[in-house]
Amino acid sequence: MSISVVILAAGQGTRMKSSMPKVLHEISGKSMLFHAIDAAKQISDDITVVLYHQAARIQKEIEAHYDTIRFHMQDAAQYPGTGGAMKGVRTKHGRTLILNGDMPLITKDSLLALTSGNADINMSVIRLDDPQGYGRVIIENDKVLEIVEQKDCTSEQLHTQTVNAGIYAVNTSLLEKYIPLLSNDNAQSEYYLTDIIKMAVEEGRTVHPVYVEEEEFKGVNSKLDLAHAEEIMQRRIKRSWMQAGVTMRLPETIYIDVRATFEGECLLENGVSIQGASHIIDSHIKAHSVVEDAHIEHSDVGPMGRVRPNSRLIRTHIGNFVEVKKSTLTGVKAGHLSYLGDATIEEGTNIGAGVITCNYDGKNKYQTIVGKNVFVGSDTQLVAPVTIEDDVMIAAGSTINKNVSKGELAISRVPMKTVKNFFYKFFGEK
Ligand code: UD1
Ligand code: CA
Repeated sequence: MSISVVILAAGQGTRMKSSMPKVLHEISGKSMLFHAIDAAKQISDDITVVLYHQAARIQKEIEAHYDTIRFHMQDAAQYPGTGGAMKGVRTKHGRTLILNGDMPLITKDSLLALTSGNADINMSVIRLDDPQGYGRVIIENDKVLEIVEQKDCTSEQLHTQTVNAGIYAVNTSLLEKYIPLLSNDNAQSEYYLTDIIKMAVEEGRTVHPVYVEEEEFKGVNSKLDLAHAEEIMQRRIKRSWMQAGVTMRLPETIYIDVRATFEGECLLENGVSIQGASHIIDSHIKAHSVVEDAHIEHSDVGPMGRVRPNSRLIRTHIGNFVEVKKSTLTGVKAGHLSYLGDATIEEGTNIGAGVITCNYDGKNKYQTIVGKNVFVGSDTQLVAPVTIEDDVMIAAGSTINKNVSKGELAISRVPMKTVKNFFYKFFGEK
């Protein structure tokens, strides 16, 4: 891996209209910047991220996930622009790949294509019917002559349909030579990285255009772009899991986090949302269920079930309108309308309709432990902390606020009474 990577992430991202730095916005559960870093990590062991706006916040996020990323602080007040961003950056290897932090869809293969060959500079070029917003790339005989930013284009140059995708692989020695020579004599009074192309051409260096797909190289600048990139990422994620054997009914309606994983034979029905680093093995997730950071094995969920973080379902059936949170259920049936939070429930236990674990007293959360083969009658409240041992039967409508021992029946109900002919006394005879 003899190439260095520099990721430009110092810009403010004004067009996102957000207080969160642009590059921290997420696509399929992972920030745009992390998508770029992960692609870069596959080709390089020397990655530098350039920061300025909200630098501390972004650096902290990166350091929490990666331990070998280097940082460079741009002096954006004095040297604004993508060229300013490169001022003072030192890289380890003889070739340096520069990419933008707002390109979450780039893949390892495209990065490799950009680093191959022996031109002094390879740069990414997209052919677009509508080049609006991009720097125009002036190409003659398959050689790049210069990049002209939209705001600096002549009316003739505006029609150029080859645009700069913003990724360059440059001989590091040339970069070190050209960056100090950049000026801000242009429409935006910024230091444009793109000006190194013209400098190289003037010195007789070769600048080779590498044509790339818009779908992969489109920069995300607005919430509209973000949504569009999400769609593309979702299509990729789902295509690859379907190839791996996951069955999806109406995949267009399904959402899958980039961190989620599947094993064996899984079936996802329409409208399912699989979030976080969920791990699903040989299971059936029925329509409109939501799974968040959960482990589900040989189980079925839904329709309209919700399995929240830190839950483990093993050989378990979760029916409609059942919410499970931070609980481990092994060999359990919970068919209808329940909340099971901070609970451990064991093999052979049946949870009736409307059972609620009362796990929170307004200050703290408490555990509910239910053993094997327990029959929990409908509409039972399990007031935690509480332990129900094996082979227990709980009568419907009970409030269980004391532990129940093995083999017992627990019932807590106001005895029912009937009043003869009350209806007729109240409403009168018909
Ligand atoms: C840039 C290119 C343009 C290209 C387009 C592709 C320049 C001068 N223009 O324009 O030719 O078509 O990308 O998407 O390079 N950044 C910094 N510091 C800064 C300014 C920007 O680090 O002072 C970073 C941003 O965080 C971003 C990247 O550089 O990740 C690109 O910046 P952006 O402002 O989006 O550049 P464009 O105007 O889109
Ligand atoms: Ca951009």
